[in-house]
Amino acid sequence: MFIQMRKLLLFSISVLIIFSAVNGTIKPVHDDVDVVPHGEEMLDVDTIFRALGVPYCMRKCIDPFINSTTSLWNMRNVVNQARKVCTLHAQAITCLKKEQFCDHHKIFSKASSSIEYMCATKHVLFERMETCLNPIVDDVMSTCDKECYARSNLTAFAQDSNIKFAATVGGNAFIVADHLGDLCTSLQCTLPCVTKRLNNKCALSGWLSLDMLMQPFDAVSVMVEQLSPPLRDLITKKIDKRCRFAINPSRLNRIRNGDFNAFNMDHS
Ligand SMILES: *[C@@H]1O[C@H](CO)[C@@H](O)[C@H](O)[C@H]1NC(C)=O
Ligand SMILES: *[C@@H]1O[C@H](CO)[C@@H](O)[C@H](O)[C@H]1NC(C)=O
Repeated sequence: MFIQMRKLLLFSISVLIIFSAVNGTIKPVHDDVDVVPHGEEMLDVDTIFRALGVPYCMRKCIDPFINSTTSLWNMRNVVNQARKVCTLHAQAITCLKKEQFCDHHKIFSKASSSIEYMCATKHVLFERMETCLNPIVDDVMSTCDKECYARSNLTAFAQDSNIKFAATVGGNAFIVADHLGDLCTSLQCTLPCVTKRLNNKCALSGWLSLDMLMQPFDAVSVMVEQLSPPLRDLITKKIDKRCRFAINPSRLNRIRNGDFNAFNMDHS
């Protein structure tokens, strides 16, 4: 139970981190030589990973990739940056496969499946949209961040004293689970916001982004479906209502098709 729960959370949080990083809501600490970032812009990914108990063997392999995603949308040359992210992602997967006592490579490859999907399948489409997307992406992301507070919620999450406590005791999935609600609320606001605004500026680019960002949740929901019914019920009950969409395949499917009401169907 504990292990399953931890794996699920690891998925979900990684999704949020990768999502925020790709959206440029996480600014690299050394973004520009003479720009000192504001405190609220620095996200403590390290604390979050430690709170989840991500083992060193995994951190060693994924840190360069996580680092590279933070600069994806901040740079002018999105396509080149994306190529770098794709290369580092492939390297992280190779590195994890070599760690025979680190059984986390499947978790990571599922959690980051949106990156893999983009690199393998949708790269060409994004490339075609590059000239349209490049000048507007930053604006869309910062508008949606002002509307949905994804960045400040993620920062607040990392700075929460309970999360810091979980980090110091080597990871505790239940503490982390109890504090996910606000992040899910932000995500429920951010996904439609980004989809609509990108679609308005560059035809179909919002749907393409949404499709990509939904991939990891599919992996999570498939994993939950495969659990024994009692365990599945327990997790469904335990997880915050605001996060339930993330483990329900039919709701995910509706969201992917633009039915954003499927985020909020819990009246129980
Ligand atoms: C993270 O990226 C920055 C620049 O993009 C680089 O200077 C730094 O060394 C990287 N850190 C790690 C741990 O890879
Ligand atoms: C988190 O996001 C919600 C909206 O999604 C917002 O109302 C709330 O103020 C945010 N919290 C923080 C700490 O930014």
